[in-house]
Amino acid sequence: MSEYDIIIVGSGAAGLTAAIALADHCRVLVLAKGELTGGSTAWAQGGIAAVLDAGDTFENHIEDTMVAGAGLNRRETVEFVVENAPHAIERLIEMGVPFNKEAEALHLTREGGHSHRRIVHVDDATGWAVQAALLKTAEAHPNITLLPGQACIDLITGRHEERYSGSGRVWGVYALDEKSGKVHAHVGRATILASGGAGRVYQFSTAPRGATGDGIAMAWRAGARVSNMEMMQFHPTCLYNLEVKNFLITEAVRGEGGILKHPVTGHRYMPDYDERAELAPRDIVARANDDQIKRFGLDYVHLDISHKDPDFVAGHFPNIYEKLLTLGIDMTKQPIPVVPAQHYTCGGILIDLDGRTDLPGLYAAGECTESGLHGANRLASNSLLECFVFGEAAAKHIIRCWDRLEPPPAIRPWDASRVTDSDEEVVIKQNWTEIRRFMWNYVGIVRTTKRLERAQHRIQMMTGEVEDYYGHFRVTTDLIELRNLLQCAELIVRSALHRKESRGLHYTLDYPGLLPKAVDTVLVP
Ligand code: FAD
Ligand code: SIN
Repeated sequence: MSEYDIIIVGSGAAGLTAAIALADHCRVLVLAKGELTGGSTAWAQGGIAAVLDAGDTFENHIEDTMVAGAGLNRRETVEFVVENAPHAIERLIEMGVPFNKEAEALHLTREGGHSHRRIVHVDDATGWAVQAALLKTAEAHPNITLLPGQACIDLITGRHEERYSGSGRVWGVYALDEKSGKVHAHVGRATILASGGAGRVYQFSTAPRGATGDGIAMAWRAGARVSNMEMMQFHPTCLYNLEVKNFLITEAVRGEGGILKHPVTGHRYMPDYDERAELAPRDIVARANDDQIKRFGLDYVHLDISHKDPDFVAGHFPNIYEKLLTLGIDMTKQPIPVVPAQHYTCGGILIDLDGRTDLPGLYAAGECTESGLHGANRLASNSLLECFVFGEAAAKHIIRCWDRLEPPPAIRPWDASRVTDSDEEVVIKQNWTEIRRFMWNYVGIVRTTKRLERAQHRIQMMTGEVEDYYGHFRVTTDLIELRNLLQCAELIVRSALHRKESRGLHYTLDYPGLLPKAVDTVLVP
């Protein structure tokens, strides 16, 4: 058992922000599955939204966020995040993030749903620069211990105390050391889940391999409520390539003038769907692309920015430009074939403005949460921002309440006495593939009740098999992830069946209209 003051699950933007904000006050352990740079943060392209232009206002950013979120957002959260955005950017600059500049001022790009230019960025690889700066700062702090290669399995609660208690008080996590195969208990006075989204529940996703909703599933199993899990965001423009399956083409390409076209006729179709054309919010553009592909039996649509000055295009999107060249596509001369793909998990663990969950001692921040910021659809580049604001909010609350956070009691070690090594790994692979396929086909961009029920039926059948497997065999990262993917699939489908309207990202042919009142889908364990 290892004991620190605070345990953080996740080394992305949310986890590291919290760790850095806490480290002058207490000893922090940051756990990550695989590598420290394995989360979505390092993959972010477009940038971070903040009101920094003289012609822009907080009210504009708040309004754009609420419009994209189809009114399901909690206004006080939106105000809280938007008003804290300039401070978050300042902190990142202090940590050395080299945001692009133009004539000494920060260069602001534009993305769908934003009425103003307000996205700060580092070329088209913002996430990598942010991840590197946060890691450098965390590594330099003597109070922060970074421990990669730890796949957390479950939260430690009162039920795991040596003197059993039925309390939902959270004391840390059981984690599989991916190298040794041993499971350790990591305990502290408070735990922060910053474990990212559940994108890999879908067959096609821009998210990294580890986005399997582990934190959401762990919190749910421990008794925390989750909210709006049906709100899965699909990005309109993921590269269509038979070898490279999840390479994102940033929305900033459309922000800087890229247009969407039918690949055969060359027709620019977005104005037929929305007056904002390519700069409509993401749900609308993703549905339009999906509609074109299905209606005309296409494999992909075209995203074209070749009408712009080649130096501008290559200079603005150097990483995408280089990557596409290796695949034989010159974006300065020809259109890019693109398809929609799952991109962001808007729902998650319900938190308040201090990052508190329902469970005493458990906080959460970032993509694994539902803070009220995104509502029914996340506005582009608001998610990294949410990580910085809530990572810091959780840390501040912990510091404020420090005297009331008692040290952890004795915890029972992980019991592996009744499990053996698996002789049927094929079960894991089969179930992984099956979940991701039926979620894509039945719980995708356009839904129906019948398709959702088909998915629910499959989930019910698989749950017994996966739980039986989990109960008999030694845990591996793949098994931990499979169990969590299935749990998240169940939460998504249950939430989707619950919503009897089409709002934001949840679009169903059976209930195409909007109900008069926006109501969160809150699931109670
Ligand atoms: P992540 O960065 O995903 O980190 C999750 C961490 O949790 C990782 O360290 C992981 O190892 C760890 N973890 C997970 N499960 C476990 C477990 N069981 N045990 C231990 N550790 C675990 N947003 C923007 O605002 N702007 C953008 O331009 C942008 N571009 C994007 C481009 C792409 C391709 C993608 C996929 C997303 C993009 N997003 C963007 C979304 C944004 O990147 C994410 O929402 C954000 O980075 C999430 O940060 P996080 O800290 O919550 O989680
Ligand atoms: C992108 O660059 O298109 C992604 C931005 C985001 O997901 O916020």
